[in-house]
Amino acid sequence: MRPFIACRWDASRVLGVSGRYTRASISACSGQSRYIHQAAGVSESRNSTISRKFPVKGAHTANVATPISPKSSQLLSNHPIATTYRALYSTATSPKEPTIHDVFDTTSGTWQYIVADPSTSTAVIIDPVLNFDPATQAITTKSADALLALAKENGYKIDKILETHAHADHLSAASYLQKRLRQSQDHKPPICIGQRIEQVQKLFSQRYGVPKSEYKQVFDRLLGDDETFTVGNITVKAIHLPGHTPDHLGYMVGDNVFCGDSLFHADIGTARCDFPGGDAKDLFQSGRKLLSLPGHVKIWTGHDYPPAGRSEPVPWMSVHDHRELNKHLKEGITEDEFVAMRQERDAGLAAPKLLHQSLQINIRAGRLPAPTEAGQRLLHVPLKLSGDPW
Ligand SMILES: [Fe+2]
Repeated sequence: MRPFIACRWDASRVLGVSGRYTRASISACSGQSRYIHQAAGVSESRNSTISRKFPVKGAHTANVATPISPKSSQLLSNHPIATTYRALYSTATSPKEPTIHDVFDTTSGTWQYIVADPSTSTAVIIDPVLNFDPATQAITTKSADALLALAKENGYKIDKILETHAHADHLSAASYLQKRLRQSQDHKPPICIGQRIEQVQKLFSQRYGVPKSEYKQVFDRLLGDDETFTVGNITVKAIHLPGHTPDHLGYMVGDNVFCGDSLFHADIGTARCDFPGGDAKDLFQSGRKLLSLPGHVKIWTGHDYPPAGRSEPVPWMSVHDHRELNKHLKEGITEDEFVAMRQERDAGLAAPKLLHQSLQINIRAGRLPAPTEAGQRLLHVPLKLSGDPW
């Protein structure tokens, strides 16, 4: 990581909840900021071709704060970080445009977002991460606490917590945040997700033996296709983006779409489609839906796993750049070609490390399993047998 000038405020001070958060990411002009959650010693390989490694300490990112799309050539090569990193965007010249904070969790490769209406300081949190250590089964809340600190520092009232889908690779901090925010502000932010989550809950509750009482009505609001709601004075539109999962939504806020796990950065392309209910044809159509938006619209992704040759995660690319550069969905790639590529690729991917833990927590909207009589909270792990059971 390269050093950057800190001028306005220091994330290590603001985010004192975790010394592993990067110290600062500051723009001299506008106080823009980015936080990257650094897990000690984490090196994670997601699959055979996408891997990443970040230094443990001293990671500092900064950004040149202009709301323009990174140059394509810079995005796909060893570019100067300062030209490609964005953290807090405020296009305050338009009353309909939000302020966006992106916060990266390195343990899961997840981009979390706080999206705020600058005119009212009302905000939403999108796809917050609950930290889980598979070696010890320990759940911690460092990432979520950092989001709370960031919201507090900026004086935001969190109006809603938005999930793009039932994640299969990381646990959701939605329920934890809801409880903490209920205590700290005079509003319990509803946890919102797409209406098809009920299909996903039904499927995985049966698979994992989750009792109905622990997943029924745990989400406060189920959003329909193209349903709109407001965050302060800004309108948010829920867009159905099936393919990775059937319940998947994107959230359109001004000239931004938070697309979850549909499109990834151009050098990765798209998300896998081999989870139950996933469909490569659907993902192709969802991608086409996104890339039919005006070229300047920013697509903010749910994950990034920088491949060799790219040292840092990138949260967004413009529709225009995706059309030109997305390795799976750029113009000229047909649906048949995409489906064949996606299916072949998915067949070679390993299951996510936190698959079982994630799904059991996330169909509960991030709630914990009820304690047993012995006082323990348990998750199930399905066994694989090589032959007949004995
Ligand atoms: Fe996902």
